[in-house]
Amino acid sequence: MHHLESPAFDPDNSTVSAAERLDHLIAGMERAIARIGPEQIACFVAEPILASGGVLIPPPGYHQAALDLCRQHDILYISDEVVSAFGRLGHFFASETRFGIVPDLLVTAKGITSGYQPLGAVLLSDRIADALVEAADPAKPVLSNGFTYSGHPVACATAIANIAVMQREKICEHVRDVGPYFLERLRGLRNWSIVAAVRGDHLMACVECHVPGETGPTPRNQALARAVDAYCARSGLLVRPYENLCILSPALIIVKEEIDQIVAILDDALARAERDLWAGAF
Ligand SMILES: Cc1ncc(COP(=O)(O)O)c(C=O)c1O
Repeated sequence: MHHLESPAFDPDNSTVSAAERLDHLIAGMERAIARIGPEQIACFVAEPILASGGVLIPPPGYHQAALDLCRQHDILYISDEVVSAFGRLGHFFASETRFGIVPDLLVTAKGITSGYQPLGAVLLSDRIADALVEAADPAKPVLSNGFTYSGHPVACATAIANIAVMQREKICEHVRDVGPYFLERLRGLRNWSIVAAVRGDHLMACVECHVPGETGPTPRNQALARAVDAYCARSGLLVRPYENLCILSPALIIVKEEIDQIVAILDDALARAERDLWAGAF
């Protein structure tokens, strides 16, 4: 497996334009394909927005340009939507509706059942499905391999019920309504000197903490973020701690009053952690 440079682009904290960053990333991908050899590459895997990698958002046009490059070299494009699908970015799938690409394969899990049952799914584009059908022995099932619990009826019934609820209660529309408010309110926290960045998309966001002047997940920055998380937990807000990031993935049914509560608790936690910092705690 080969890894490309993280495609992160944060307009608030960048010395280059989005277009320059995009050119740089795609040139890097082109060089990697040339170095490895396109015939050695089966597929390219990318999350629309890197979730556990630190809520990293690529510059506009990245996925389209990466897909174009994949097509040029006959490399399959796999979109990992384990986090971003089923509403978190305001759509059932972010690849097509939010980023304008139709991947060859799309993997999903988590939100497909809203977690009520464990289920993952791989979606194939018509191009891939047709190729499998064409290649199959007509006497045998198209995909004869499987897992013990592939297509488990209870998990699948839960997914179908979950999707019906999401459609009936217009959950994606709701996320599109409250998502921008969530980010706008969170961005207000950038006034704290210990906040290095606030970034996200709809209901996927993070607050990056730092000791002013220190960048990245240094031990002090991580200790500071852990203090913010601990103060939040004491006030009833569970934030996902990751390195020096406070990651937020609220329930898709969150309403504006609850967003205000989250921001108030974070605001208070940041005030306390900043006071601890100046008192020499880190
Ligand atoms: C983006 C992404 N892809 C894949 C996975 C792994 O999913 P699974 O545990 O279903 O294999 C995770 C787990 O959190 C994830 O965040």
